[in-house]
Amino acid sequence: MPTGQPIPVIIDCDTGVDDALALLFAVRHPGIDLRAVTCVAGNTDVDGVVRNTLTVLEIAGAADVPVARGAARPLIEPARSAQHVHGADGMGDLGLPAPTRRPADVDAVTLLRREILASPRPVTLVPTAPLTNIALLLRTHPEVTRNIERIVFMGGAVATGNATPVAEFNVWHDPEAAAVLLTAGVPITMYGLDVFERVVVPGEQVRRLRGSAEPGARLAGALLSHRPAGPGTVASADPARDADPAGGIGDAGAVCAVVDPAGITTRLLPVEVSLAPGPARGQTVVDRRARPGEAEIHEGTREQALVDVALDVDVDRFVRLYLDTVAG
Ligand code: BDR
Ligand code: CA
Repeated sequence: MPTGQPIPVIIDCDTGVDDALALLFAVRHPGIDLRAVTCVAGNTDVDGVVRNTLTVLEIAGAADVPVARGAARPLIEPARSAQHVHGADGMGDLGLPAPTRRPADVDAVTLLRREILASPRPVTLVPTAPLTNIALLLRTHPEVTRNIERIVFMGGAVATGNATPVAEFNVWHDPEAAAVLLTAGVPITMYGLDVFERVVVPGEQVRRLRGSAEPGARLAGALLSHRPAGPGTVASADPARDADPAGGIGDAGAVCAVVDPAGITTRLLPVEVSLAPGPARGQTVVDRRARPGEAEIHEGTREQALVDVALDVDVDRFVRLYLDTVAG
């Protein structure tokens, strides 16, 4: 249980099955003051992301949290969705109702600036999506950094990627934006694939959530049961879903790391995004060497962003934290 005042948090997301899990957690956790949610193209198109985000917040009983529409595409490349993972509607094709309210009448960058600067205490920014909105914010309104405590972003990978063998989806989708984020000049935690994929809620607990009378908990259970559609199948008709509904909390782990930073093991390491075209584009190159190598000896050291990189996660601790918050 947190002590002291709740942490002011803003989530920038591409809802998204696991972004929805993150929103459900953030709304429910007493240690979080969710001040705004901004939307960006990623898992699905930005209008779909806005719709999904508003619906989730309504189901979670948080219809008063401001939501704004952001970038419809990355800085340079076209948008490339992940609907084969997240379903045609970007959120598991669960047949959820359309939202009853509309997003804010300002764009995401404007809302981010307004809410960050208006917060009585420094904000923790949690991007769980491609970093386009955040890069635009940092370039348009650099003064926001004076009221940002930390950026905890889901993205990148130390070891293996998912969008490509080495690149994680959020960074791969907009590598230039991720490079801007890394040089924001505020403390940054990278909650990458290395930890993201490990926090899985066992099937029995997912079944319990699905049977809950509480709509937010029930939605969490349905989302955790979601399985990406294989070729020629529809996600919701996948029999594996009922046989073993165990599911990863994904992006929600980054929000868990905000309220319980001791649940992850981090190291402050140089991180650089590979921007060159080719097989390494979008890779987060994390330097874990103990000493300089020949490149530094012959060419000198280059300036690189230092990031708290999550290398390990206490899986049971985060599963318990998630369930205690969302099912409780
Ligand atoms: C990330 O990509 C998206 O599909 C998920 O929502 C998560 O943010 C994982 O690579
Ligand atoms: Ca996401």
